This record gives sequence, structure tokens and C-alpha cells, in this order.
Amino acid sequence: MRILVIGSGGREHALTWKLRQSPHADRIFCASGNAGTGEIAENVAIPISDLIALVRFAKENRVDLTVVGPDDPLAAGIADLFTSEKLRVFGPDKSAARIESSKIFAKELMRSQEIPTAEARTFSNSSDALRYCKRLRFPIVIKADGLALGKGVVIAADAATASSTISDMMNQVRFGDAGRRIIVEEFLHGTECSLHALVDGKNYLLLESARDHKRALDGDQGPNTGGMGAFSPANNWNTKLQSRFDTEIMKPVLRGLVQEGVTFRGLLYPGLIITTEGPRVLEFNCRFGDPETQALLPRMKSDLLPLLEATIDGKIERCAIEWDTRAAVTVVLASGGYPGKYEGGKLISGLDAAAKLEDVQIFHAGTKRDGSEVKTAGGRVLAVTALGSTLEAARARAYEAVSRIHFENCHYRRDIALNAVAANVTDLL
Ligand code: AMP
Ligand code: GLY
Repeated sequence: MRILVIGSGGREHALTWKLRQSPHADRIFCASGNAGTGEIAENVAIPISDLIALVRFAKENRVDLTVVGPDDPLAAGIADLFTSEKLRVFGPDKSAARIESSKIFAKELMRSQEIPTAEARTFSNSSDALRYCKRLRFPIVIKADGLALGKGVVIAADAATASSTISDMMNQVRFGDAGRRIIVEEFLHGTECSLHALVDGKNYLLLESARDHKRALDGDQGPNTGGMGAFSPANNWNTKLQSRFDTEIMKPVLRGLVQEGVTFRGLLYPGLIITTEGPRVLEFNCRFGDPETQALLPRMKSDLLPLLEATIDGKIERCAIEWDTRAAVTVVLASGGYPGKYEGGKLISGLDAAAKLEDVQIFHAGTKRDGSEVKTAGGRVLAVTALGSTLEAARARAYEAVSRIHFENCHYRRDIALNAVAANVTDLL
């Protein structure tokens, strides 16, 4: 089978790495990929925004299945386009992708199905939003409606921050159309957890739980990033929460989508916060998480390819996933300055020495091959995952691998999974 993976991050390297292990996979292409995918697949220099060129490539190369990594091409309708050209694609169509690309659509869906989430109001006018904020107790959360590269959510600690954020989003139009409408919502206290579900239009199959670390610096300080690390299973998840999640969140959201006339086929990833009253939805994503995927896939023993196919074909009910019971810890190595300004082109050394460690996988993100060398070419550069019989062992091994890798101005968090190590993860499973 010929497969095309769309994207160039750590998530796409992990997907390509996992699909490469399938006995059904023949040639794998990656658009546009990175130095890591280039070692196990054929990189194709087509930008993910060029949907027409991607379709043409898939046709010319007789691609049997296209797997879409990031949210932007899904929001732009890549699945609709491929399907209309009779090409098989994993990822929801444009109308289903709205669950991520419009936070207002997601909020209204949750409201109609009484799915537990933060109390919120929607505004399309900045003076109404400002007036409303004055009545609230801080902190509050302000969200741009559309996709904003993970920067469209601001936790405002006081009225001054709320007012400058609203003005930035709505009057200065900092996020373009994404911020023309906003949501103002209550701040929820709790710990976060990422769940991934393969949804085939009617039924779903859950992957194992994971947690990511969104802030740039140790101790959850600094700005939000795409994700600085992850681990799986999540130490704040258990079977009781899962059964509430099934009845209070997953079943209602699928029912709501059906009522909207939307068929979701792909990966639905609700980002949750576990409060004292139970799980609440912070957001819905319509694709695999990054870096959660880099922690989840090394634990997946089953072949991923038939699972993706069953999702497309509406047959996920017949599937099950076998998991490695060991824990996985993923540490992201970023360019100094990320998520702000950073420099690329730095030589990366020690990749082979790190990869020699048992049960360690190095997933590339912003990397580029330059002759015999590998250089940095993005904010998040690598995701180093290790498995271990305990979370603590996985963590120690991941950091041992990280210590073997060097590039100028490398930045990574030292505390990935640190707080969770104290809890006995296996008790919770
Ligand atoms: P989102 O893109 O909506 O998941 O928001 C990004 C991050 O902002 C989340 O992962 C949380 O850390 C934080 N966040 C979003 N909404 C809330 C909320 N209502 N209460 C507390 N934190 C939130
Ligand atoms: N890890 C957060 C995300 O993929 O959105």
C-alpha cells in the first residue's frame, strides 16, 4: 500500500514511523517531512497549504491512503477535496473539522448536548465583551474563535489584561479572521488530560490517556507553546473517569454531530481538565496531538494502518488496540527563544548515540538534512521518547537520551512527568 503523510512535525514523524512497521505499508511519502521522515520515507517538497498540488501528487503516485497530521489543511477542506477526487484520506471533512477550527461551533455543540465545559459567552463586538468582563471575577479565559497557531487563548488575571487582549483580538485583528468573534469563559481549576478517539462516524475507539506540558519553562511557567513534552498513561486518569467521559462527553458529542448533519471520521481529541466535579472539556481537536502522539504510538502494539482504515470505513467497532503496559515519557528539544524568535541552521550532534539506548525513539520535528549533517529548522526540533517499566524509569531514560544530544541554544524542560512520578500510575489503570 502507498501512503502519503501530510505534515512535517514530530507527530508526523511518529505516524510515519508507526506506519512503516505495518506489513501492509509499501511506499510512504511525506509532505513535506523532515530529516527524520526522510530516513524512513520519501520526503516530497509540497507545502501543506497547496492542496491542489497534494491531490495531484497523490493521483500521479497512485497513493492508496493519505493521513493528515495538522489541523490547518483539515480546516481548509483537504479531506473534502481528496474524497471528491476518489482518494482515500484519514481526517475529518471541513464541516466536521469545525469542532476545532471554530471554538464557538464547539461551544454551541457542547451546550446543546449538555457536555460539561466552562461557562462561556460569545461576542462579535468588543465593547459588549469589555462590558461583560467588568462583571466577572478574575482570572477569566479569552479565546479567539478560529485557529491561531495555539496563541489564541489568553488567561487574563485582571481587567487590564482582559481589555488589552480583547482589543488585540477584535480591534487590532491580531489573529485575522480567527479573532473577529471571541469567547469569554470561566477559568477552571484542575489538571489536564488528553484523550484520543478514533471516530468512524458512529462509533469510537479510545487510545490510552496522555498528558502534555504546554508551557515553555519548568514549573509550568512562561508562555504557552505547541507542547514541550508528554507522557502516557496520564496519572490523573482512571476507569471511573473514563466511564464518565464516555457517557458525559463522547456519546453526547457524537450525537450532537449527527444532529448537526456532520459525519466525523478521523481522530477526535478532546482536551480535558479534571476538576473536583469531574472531567470538563477545554477544547476539541480534530487530529492527533503533538507531542502526545510521540508518547502514545511507541506504546501501541497493534498495527496502526488497519485502525485508520477501519475508521474511514465505519468499522471501528470491530477493532481493539493492544497496548504496551509500560509508560512513555517524551521530552521536546526546542530552539532557544521558542515560542518566540529563534535561529535555525544549528548542527545537531549525538543523535546516533542517543538512539542506541534501548527503548528510546527520537522523533524529528524542525530538522533538515544538509549533506551528511542534520541541522535545526524550526521551533520544536526533536521529541525524545523512552519507554520504562515505571514512569520514573521512562523519565530517567528519556533524559539520559536527551543528555547525549547537542545543538547550540537547545532548550528543554527538566520537569516533564516529574510531578506525576510521585503517583503510582499502575494503581490507576
Ligand atoms: P485550548 O486551546 O482551548 O485548549 O486552550 C489552551 C490552554 O489554555 C489549555 O490547554 C489550558 O491550559 C488553558 N485553558 C483553556 N481554557 C481554560 C479554562 N476555561 N480554564 C482554565 N484553563 C484553560
Ligand atoms: N498537544 C496539544 C495539541 O496537539 O494541540
